[in-house]
Amino acid sequence: MATKTTVRSNPSTPLSTNKHLLKWVEKMARLTKPARIHWVSGSDEENQTLLDQMVGAGTLTKLNEDLWPGCYYARSDASDVARVEDRTFICSLSKDNAGPTNNWEDPFKMRRKLKGLFQGAMQGRTMYVLAFSMGPVDSPLARIGVQLTDSPYVVVNMRIMARIGLRVFQEIDKGEKRVVPCMHSVGMPLTRGKKDVMWPCNPEKYIVHFPETREIWSYGSGYGGNALLGKKCFALRIASNIARDEGWMAEHMLILGVEDPKGEKTYVAAAFPSACGKTNFAMLIPPKSFKGWKIWTVGDDIAWIKPDAKGELRAINPESGFFGVAPGTSMKTNPNAMLTLQKNSIFTNVALTPEGGVWWEGMTDTPPAECTDWQGKRWTPAIAAETGAKAAHPNARFTAPASQCPTIDPAWEDPAGVPISAIIFGGRRPTTMPLVFQAFNWSTGVYVGATMGSEMTAAAAGTVGKVRRDPMAMLPFCGYHMGDYFRHWIKMQRHLTTTPRIFHVNWFRRGPAGEFLWPGYSENMRVLKWIVDRAHGRAAGRETPIGWMPNYEDLEWKGLPFTKEQFEELQAFDRKQWRQEVIGQEELFIDLHDHLPPEMVYERELLICRL
Ligand code: GTP
Ligand code: SPV
Ligand code: MN
Repeated sequence: MATKTTVRSNPSTPLSTNKHLLKWVEKMARLTKPARIHWVSGSDEENQTLLDQMVGAGTLTKLNEDLWPGCYYARSDASDVARVEDRTFICSLSKDNAGPTNNWEDPFKMRRKLKGLFQGAMQGRTMYVLAFSMGPVDSPLARIGVQLTDSPYVVVNMRIMARIGLRVFQEIDKGEKRVVPCMHSVGMPLTRGKKDVMWPCNPEKYIVHFPETREIWSYGSGYGGNALLGKKCFALRIASNIARDEGWMAEHMLILGVEDPKGEKTYVAAAFPSACGKTNFAMLIPPKSFKGWKIWTVGDDIAWIKPDAKGELRAINPESGFFGVAPGTSMKTNPNAMLTLQKNSIFTNVALTPEGGVWWEGMTDTPPAECTDWQGKRWTPAIAAETGAKAAHPNARFTAPASQCPTIDPAWEDPAGVPISAIIFGGRRPTTMPLVFQAFNWSTGVYVGATMGSEMTAAAAGTVGKVRRDPMAMLPFCGYHMGDYFRHWIKMQRHLTTTPRIFHVNWFRRGPAGEFLWPGYSENMRVLKWIVDRAHGRAAGRETPIGWMPNYEDLEWKGLPFTKEQFEELQAFDRKQWRQEVIGQEELFIDLHDHLPPEMVYERELLICRL
């Protein structure tokens, strides 16, 4: 051949010389009996071949190249649309280590169960050997995994969400880093003559973590956090275990940088539960009246945070893409997300337009006259008005490269991470919680995070709208006992010379008619500015029983007609509601009592006294 090419004649040729890896792949192939093995190089050509194959098989639809260059569309099985928390297991050796907030099963029993399920599970399919790095490959904070999967959809999505392929195999071959093995099968073997379906999966699902051996086994689902194992399974559930052992933190947090008109940059990390506004906040565009202010995006879902040699917290985004909620995303609410997902993106469970484009509720003011909904049925505004049918599933998502985000921070791939000056907690709270308050100090702040509540959303199977306790937005993602996790948070302060300030926000407080009291989105900049100023010790506020709150005059209101009365309704601290709140907080603490650090008990007592 005349020119250099990365097309390999035989993808079954191993791309690694690591003996452990080769042996494990062989062993897993013997168990799952795939028709062939494909070592994923990560090259453009390979990616295009996989995409073309999936278009041929009907799993993907290529979108109109003129409108949506390099974009593809997938519809999942109607039963495989979100994370399945009730099928997610932490199989630590002792049940006590998983704690009452996780499903636990005896690891030996679970291994036997999984062995049965994976036996021959990949028959007739290709087993992809997908090496991935969470974090920039050259970062000391990065970690490596290898996912064996029979889903090419997972491969092309993981290629956006993580650094994959050859460069990661090279890292593995250095033999310096521990590799987290991740087994994944959609659980639908193509035994003799069986025809494949558009979205193979299995009604029986198991999302299993073995924290001691740092292993992940996922069976039966091809969707999101169930199947893209670098994300919630590795970067949160397994990583939270590694982080506890090594003295750092793996958190369900976005990371953003605030640049003021003088060019001073302040980074904050924020933990909101699933579908509670992380992607939107991470890509915030300040209102026009904030001349010279700029928000830079580092990450929208996960932060790995570690004290550096100077005792300052530094964070990396372990991911390289956004797996974002589509419905509600528009040029009005989140233009940066819209510009990010314009090309080279994959859309799952949104609606398909006759022009070969995509649409979802909230994308435009006027819906298309007609489209195909996420279940492949004809959808029109009239049908929707009559039946309530949604064109896109509420948990429909886009997978888009972070590098395409117009506000991606120049330091987003800095191997050393970015310094964190403030941590923000927040949930969907229709009542009780003011727009913003600041915790008195680190341990009160940990208490605020530990007692966080939020209305449930469509991101997980469950009852949408019910308020549940979701400590640090980690309830479904903490890979060990939640009480020990609080202790770890408390202990982190010992490694720090400067402790970030801790805040609580609530964009979702409602008025008597059920309407949101706060416009949210861009306007959240006003709250963020106060947070940044407080973190630098230069904004005023007043002390209340729950923490420091801004006065009306302490926020910048230029450009937003928002009266003092409106603000006071939004900020209201209602003693009666808070007494109820404290009772609600206790429910979780009772479950965790034997692992609860004393600080949490004292903080609670102090709060009750102040109330
Ligand atoms: P995950 O990817 O599941 O972790 O979700 P996320 O936390 O990134 O949430 P996302 O930013 O995708 O927002 C989820 C929903 O909340 C969308 O429907 C948004 O439109 C809505 N939302 C985000 N920010 C705001 C806000 O400030 N106010 C209101 N009212 N809604 C918001
Ligand atoms: C979440 O549910 O918090 C998500 C989507 O970010 S998933 O990747 O499916 O976990
Ligand atoms: Mn998330």
